[in-house]
Amino acid sequence: MKRDLLTLLDLKREEILLIVEEGKRLKGLQKKRIPHRLLAGETIAMIFEKPSTRTRVSFEAGIAQLGATPIVLSRGEMQLGRGETVEDTGRVLSRYVDGIMIRAYSHGAVEALAGAATVPVINGLTDLTHPCQILSDLMTIDERRGGIEGMTVAYVGDGNNVAHSWILATSRLDFTLKIVCPPGYEPADEIMAKAPAGRTRVFHDPAEAVAGADVVYTDVWASMGQEEEAQKRLKDFEGFQVTPELMARAGQEAVFMHCLPAHRGQEVSAEVIDGPQSIVFGQAENRLHAQKAILAFLLSR
Ligand code: CP
Ligand code: NVA
Repeated sequence: MKRDLLTLLDLKREEILLIVEEGKRLKGLQKKRIPHRLLAGETIAMIFEKPSTRTRVSFEAGIAQLGATPIVLSRGEMQLGRGETVEDTGRVLSRYVDGIMIRAYSHGAVEALAGAATVPVINGLTDLTHPCQILSDLMTIDERRGGIEGMTVAYVGDGNNVAHSWILATSRLDFTLKIVCPPGYEPADEIMAKAPAGRTRVFHDPAEAVAGADVVYTDVWASMGQEEEAQKRLKDFEGFQVTPELMARAGQEAVFMHCLPAHRGQEVSAEVIDGPQSIVFGQAENRLHAQKAILAFLLSR
Protein backbone atom coordinates (compact mmCIF):
# COMPACT_ATOMS: atom_id res chain seq x y z
CA MET A 1 0.00 0.00 0.00
CA LYS A 2 1.45 3.38 -0.99
CA ARG A 3 2.13 5.97 1.70
CA ASP A 4 1.65 9.73 1.36
CA LEU A 5 3.02 12.60 3.44
CA LEU A 6 0.25 15.20 3.52
CA THR A 7 0.59 16.13 7.19
CA LEU A 8 2.79 14.92 10.05
CA LEU A 9 -0.17 12.81 11.21
CA ASP A 10 0.67 10.47 8.32
CA LEU A 11 3.74 9.38 10.29
CA LYS A 12 4.09 7.56 13.60
CA ARG A 13 6.52 8.83 16.24
CA GLU A 14 9.05 6.08 15.42
CA GLU A 15 8.83 6.89 11.70
CA ILE A 16 9.57 10.58 12.35
CA LEU A 17 12.59 9.61 14.45
CA LEU A 18 13.70 7.19 11.71
CA ILE A 19 13.50 9.93 9.06
CA VAL A 20 15.55 12.27 11.29
CA GLU A 21 18.22 9.56 11.74
CA GLU A 22 18.24 8.71 8.05
CA GLY A 23 18.50 12.42 7.18
CA LYS A 24 21.60 12.67 9.37
CA ARG A 25 23.07 9.53 7.80
CA LEU A 26 22.46 10.76 4.24
CA LYS A 27 23.93 14.14 5.17
CA GLY A 28 27.12 12.38 6.30
CA LEU A 29 27.31 10.43 3.04
CA GLN A 30 26.66 13.53 0.94
CA LYS A 31 29.36 15.53 2.78
CA LYS A 32 31.88 12.77 2.01
CA ARG A 33 30.54 12.44 -1.55
CA ILE A 34 29.77 8.78 -0.97
CA PRO A 35 27.12 7.73 -3.51
CA HIS A 36 23.75 6.71 -2.08
CA ARG A 37 21.57 6.01 -5.09
CA LEU A 38 18.66 4.65 -3.06
CA LEU A 39 16.11 5.54 -5.74
CA ALA A 40 18.16 4.68 -8.84
CA GLY A 41 15.99 4.55 -11.94
CA GLU A 42 12.95 6.18 -10.34
CA THR A 43 11.24 9.36 -11.54
CA ILE A 44 9.57 11.98 -9.38
CA ALA A 45 7.26 14.77 -10.56
CA MET A 46 7.15 18.06 -8.69
CA ILE A 47 4.19 20.40 -9.22
CA PHE A 48 4.45 24.03 -8.13
CA GLU A 49 1.42 26.27 -7.87
CA LYS A 50 3.31 28.77 -5.68
CA PRO A 51 6.90 30.11 -5.84
CA SER A 52 9.73 28.31 -4.06
CA THR A 53 13.49 28.50 -3.64
CA ARG A 54 14.33 25.97 -0.93
CA THR A 55 11.70 23.32 -1.62
CA ARG A 56 12.29 23.40 -5.38
CA VAL A 57 16.07 23.23 -5.28
CA SER A 58 16.45 20.91 -2.29
CA PHE A 59 14.00 18.38 -3.72
CA GLU A 60 15.45 18.58 -7.22
CA ALA A 61 19.04 18.25 -6.01
CA GLY A 62 18.09 15.55 -3.51
CA ILE A 63 16.27 13.47 -6.11
CA ALA A 64 19.34 13.62 -8.35
CA GLN A 65 21.61 12.62 -5.44
CA LEU A 66 19.37 9.60 -4.80
CA GLY A 67 19.88 8.51 -8.42
CA ALA A 68 16.34 9.39 -9.49
CA THR A 69 15.12 11.86 -12.10
CA PRO A 70 13.06 14.93 -11.15
CA ILE A 71 10.46 16.49 -13.45
CA VAL A 72 9.58 20.02 -12.35
CA LEU A 73 6.21 21.33 -13.46
CA SER A 74 4.39 24.57 -12.80
CA ARG A 75 0.61 24.48 -12.68
CA GLY A 76 0.39 27.04 -15.47
CA GLU A 77 2.20 24.81 -17.95
CA MET A 78 0.00 21.81 -17.19
CA GLN A 79 -3.54 21.03 -18.30
CA LEU A 80 -4.29 21.36 -14.57
CA GLY A 81 -4.13 25.11 -15.20
CA ARG A 82 -6.74 24.75 -17.96
CA GLY A 83 -9.35 22.83 -16.01
CA GLU A 84 -8.15 19.21 -15.98
CA THR A 85 -9.07 17.82 -12.58
CA VAL A 86 -6.47 17.22 -9.93
CA GLU A 87 -7.73 13.62 -9.68
CA ASP A 88 -7.13 12.95 -13.40
CA THR A 89 -3.73 14.60 -13.05
CA GLY A 90 -2.90 12.21 -10.21
CA ARG A 91 -4.11 9.17 -12.16
CA VAL A 92 -2.14 10.08 -15.27
CA LEU A 93 1.10 11.06 -13.51
CA SER A 94 0.97 7.77 -11.59
CA ARG A 95 1.34 5.97 -14.94
CA TYR A 96 4.62 7.75 -15.60
CA VAL A 97 6.37 8.50 -12.32
CA ASP A 98 7.13 6.82 -8.99
CA GLY A 99 6.22 9.75 -6.73
CA ILE A 100 4.69 13.23 -6.79
CA MET A 101 5.65 16.27 -4.72
CA ILE A 102 3.19 19.15 -4.85
CA ARG A 103 3.14 22.73 -3.53
CA ALA A 104 -0.40 24.10 -3.76
CA TYR A 105 -2.78 26.62 -2.25
CA SER A 106 -5.57 24.21 -1.36
CA HIS A 107 -4.81 21.40 1.06
CA GLY A 108 -8.02 19.71 -0.12
CA ALA A 109 -6.68 19.62 -3.68
CA VAL A 110 -3.54 17.86 -2.46
CA GLU A 111 -5.70 15.34 -0.58
CA ALA A 112 -7.70 14.79 -3.78
CA LEU A 113 -4.49 14.28 -5.78
CA ALA A 114 -3.22 11.79 -3.22
CA GLY A 115 -6.58 9.99 -3.19
CA ALA A 116 -6.47 9.46 -6.94
CA ALA A 117 -2.73 8.84 -7.39
CA THR A 118 -1.40 5.31 -7.01
CA VAL A 119 2.10 6.58 -6.19
CA PRO A 120 3.18 8.40 -2.99
CA VAL A 121 2.29 12.09 -2.80
CA ILE A 122 4.35 14.53 -0.71
CA ASN A 123 2.99 17.88 0.43
CA GLY A 124 5.59 20.56 -0.32
CA LEU A 125 3.43 23.22 1.41
CA THR A 126 -0.25 24.08 1.28
CA ASP A 127 -2.16 26.94 2.87
CA LEU A 128 -2.79 24.56 5.78
CA THR A 129 0.49 22.74 6.47
CA HIS A 130 4.20 22.37 5.61
CA PRO A 131 5.30 18.95 6.91
CA CYS A 132 8.66 18.71 5.05
CA GLN A 133 9.74 21.94 6.73
CA ILE A 134 9.07 20.69 10.24
CA LEU A 135 10.66 17.26 9.61
CA SER A 136 13.80 19.09 8.47
CA ASP A 137 13.58 21.38 11.49
CA LEU A 138 13.33 18.38 13.80
CA MET A 139 16.56 17.09 12.25
CA THR A 140 18.23 20.48 12.82
CA ILE A 141 17.11 20.59 16.46
CA ASP A 142 18.28 17.01 16.90
CA GLU A 143 21.74 17.97 15.60
CA ARG A 144 21.98 21.12 17.70
CA ARG A 145 20.25 20.09 20.89
CA GLY A 146 20.23 16.27 20.78
CA GLY A 147 16.49 15.84 20.12
CA ILE A 148 13.35 17.83 20.67
CA GLU A 149 11.65 15.81 23.39
CA GLY A 150 11.52 17.73 26.65
CA MET A 151 12.28 21.02 24.88
CA THR A 152 10.18 24.17 24.57
CA VAL A 153 9.65 25.76 21.17
CA ALA A 154 8.28 29.31 21.10
CA TYR A 155 6.75 30.14 17.73
CA VAL A 156 6.35 33.91 17.40
CA GLY A 157 4.03 35.20 14.67
CA ASP A 158 1.21 34.11 12.41
CA GLY A 159 -0.78 30.95 13.19
CA ASN A 160 -0.12 29.78 9.63
CA ASN A 161 0.82 26.60 7.74
CA VAL A 162 4.25 26.36 9.44
CA ALA A 163 2.71 26.92 12.89
CA HIS A 164 0.11 24.27 12.05
CA SER A 165 2.76 21.69 11.23
CA TRP A 166 4.53 22.50 14.50
CA ILE A 167 1.24 21.89 16.30
CA LEU A 168 0.76 18.55 14.55
CA ALA A 169 4.32 17.57 15.54
CA THR A 170 3.18 17.73 19.18
CA SER A 171 0.79 14.86 18.41
CA ARG A 172 3.77 12.63 17.78
CA LEU A 173 6.61 14.01 19.92
CA ASP A 174 6.69 15.06 23.54
CA PHE A 175 7.69 18.73 23.63
CA THR A 176 6.05 22.00 24.64
CA LEU A 177 4.95 24.41 21.93
CA LYS A 178 4.08 28.01 22.73
CA ILE A 179 2.48 29.91 19.87
CA VAL A 180 2.36 33.66 20.36
CA CYS A 181 0.38 35.75 17.88
CA PRO A 182 -1.73 38.91 17.77
CA PRO A 183 -5.43 38.35 18.54
CA GLY A 184 -7.17 37.18 15.37
CA TYR A 185 -4.09 35.34 14.02
CA GLU A 186 -4.41 32.20 16.11
CA PRO A 187 -3.88 28.76 14.52
CA ALA A 188 -6.95 27.11 12.98
CA ASP A 189 -9.32 25.30 15.34
CA GLU A 190 -9.30 22.22 13.06
CA ILE A 191 -5.53 21.89 13.68
CA MET A 192 -5.69 22.66 17.41
CA ALA A 193 -8.35 19.94 17.71
CA LYS A 194 -5.86 17.36 16.39
CA ALA A 195 -3.15 18.21 18.92
CA PRO A 196 -2.93 16.72 22.40
CA ALA A 197 -4.31 19.07 25.04
CA GLY A 198 -1.63 20.84 27.03
CA ARG A 199 1.34 20.45 24.65
CA THR A 200 0.42 23.56 22.62
CA ARG A 201 -0.44 26.80 24.38
CA VAL A 202 -1.46 30.00 22.61
CA PHE A 203 -0.27 33.35 23.97
CA HIS A 204 -0.63 36.98 22.95
CA ASP A 205 2.38 38.38 24.84
CA PRO A 206 5.73 37.53 23.15
CA ALA A 207 7.82 38.16 26.29
CA GLU A 208 5.69 35.71 28.29
CA ALA A 209 5.75 33.01 25.59
CA VAL A 210 9.48 33.18 24.86
CA ALA A 211 10.61 33.08 28.51
CA GLY A 212 12.99 30.14 28.95
CA ALA A 213 12.37 28.69 25.44
CA ASP A 214 14.98 26.41 23.86
CA VAL A 215 14.02 27.34 20.31
CA VAL A 216 12.60 30.66 19.14
CA TYR A 217 10.99 30.25 15.73
CA THR A 218 9.29 32.68 13.40
CA ASP A 219 7.90 32.91 9.87
CA VAL A 220 6.66 35.65 7.56
CA TRP A 221 3.68 37.73 8.65
CA ALA A 222 2.05 37.50 5.21
CA SER A 223 2.25 34.09 3.57
CA MET A 224 2.08 33.35 -0.14
CA GLY A 225 -1.43 34.26 -1.28
CA GLN A 226 -1.87 36.92 1.45
CA GLU A 227 -0.03 39.70 -0.39
CA GLU A 228 -3.08 42.00 -0.31
CA GLU A 229 -3.18 41.80 3.50
CA ALA A 230 0.53 42.59 3.87
CA GLN A 231 0.10 46.25 4.87
CA LYS A 232 -2.61 45.51 7.42
CA ARG A 233 -0.53 42.68 8.84
CA LEU A 234 2.48 44.97 9.29
CA LYS A 235 0.36 47.01 11.72
CA ASP A 236 -1.35 44.05 13.36
CA PHE A 237 1.97 42.31 14.08
CA GLU A 238 3.64 45.35 15.63
CA GLY A 239 5.46 44.18 18.77
CA PHE A 240 5.86 40.64 17.44
CA GLN A 241 9.33 41.08 15.88
CA VAL A 242 11.99 38.72 17.23
CA THR A 243 14.55 41.20 18.56
CA PRO A 244 17.71 40.76 20.67
CA GLU A 245 15.62 41.88 23.69
CA LEU A 246 13.10 39.12 23.04
CA MET A 247 15.86 36.53 22.48
CA ALA A 248 17.39 37.59 25.81
CA ARG A 249 14.27 36.22 27.53
CA ALA A 250 14.77 32.75 26.01
CA GLY A 251 16.99 30.07 27.55
CA GLN A 252 20.78 30.54 27.71
CA GLU A 253 21.40 28.05 24.90
CA ALA A 254 18.39 29.10 22.81
CA VAL A 255 18.64 29.00 19.04
CA PHE A 256 16.76 31.15 16.55
CA MET A 257 15.06 29.41 13.62
CA HIS A 258 13.11 30.65 10.59
CA CYS A 259 11.84 28.53 7.69
CA LEU A 260 12.81 31.38 5.30
CA PRO A 261 12.29 33.47 3.24
CA ALA A 262 12.83 36.15 5.91
CA HIS A 263 11.98 39.83 6.04
CA ARG A 264 14.55 41.60 8.18
CA GLY A 265 12.92 44.44 10.09
CA GLN A 266 9.53 42.72 10.06
CA GLU A 267 9.20 39.34 11.80
CA VAL A 268 12.89 39.36 12.82
CA SER A 269 15.58 41.97 13.31
CA ALA A 270 18.80 41.70 11.31
CA GLU A 271 20.78 41.42 14.58
CA VAL A 272 18.96 38.21 15.45
CA ILE A 273 18.80 36.45 12.09
CA ASP A 274 22.41 37.36 11.29
CA GLY A 275 23.58 36.90 14.88
CA PRO A 276 25.24 34.06 16.79
CA GLN A 277 22.05 32.35 17.96
CA SER A 278 20.67 32.04 14.44
CA ILE A 279 20.88 28.62 12.77
CA VAL A 280 18.69 29.47 9.79
CA PHE A 281 21.10 28.50 7.01
CA GLY A 282 21.97 25.14 8.53
CA GLN A 283 18.22 24.74 8.96
CA ALA A 284 17.67 25.52 5.26
CA GLU A 285 20.43 23.06 4.29
CA ASN A 286 18.72 20.27 6.17
CA ARG A 287 15.71 20.50 3.87
CA LEU A 288 17.94 18.66 1.38
CA HIS A 289 18.97 15.86 3.71
CA ALA A 290 15.66 15.35 5.51
CA GLN A 291 13.67 15.32 2.27
CA LYS A 292 16.01 12.69 0.82
CA ALA A 293 15.17 10.61 3.88
CA ILE A 294 11.45 11.25 3.33
CA LEU A 295 11.73 10.20 -0.34
CA ALA A 296 13.70 7.08 0.56
CA PHE A 297 11.17 6.21 3.29
CA LEU A 298 8.13 6.59 1.02
CA LEU A 299 9.53 5.33 -2.27
CA SER A 300 12.13 2.64 -1.56
CA ARG A 301 11.03 -0.75 -2.79
N1 CP B 1 10.89 27.29 3.58
C1 CP B 1 10.48 27.07 2.33
O1 CP B 1 9.64 26.21 2.07
O2 CP B 1 11.06 27.86 1.38
P1 CP B 1 10.64 27.99 -0.15
O3 CP B 1 9.31 28.70 -0.19
O4 CP B 1 11.74 28.79 -0.78
O5 CP B 1 10.52 26.62 -0.75
N1 NVA C 1 4.11 30.62 5.71
C1 NVA C 1 4.95 30.81 4.56
C2 NVA C 1 5.99 29.75 4.50
C3 NVA C 1 6.95 29.88 3.34
C4 NVA C 1 7.92 28.75 3.28
C5 NVA C 1 4.10 30.83 3.31
O1 NVA C 1 3.19 29.98 3.22
O2 NVA C 1 4.33 31.66 2.44
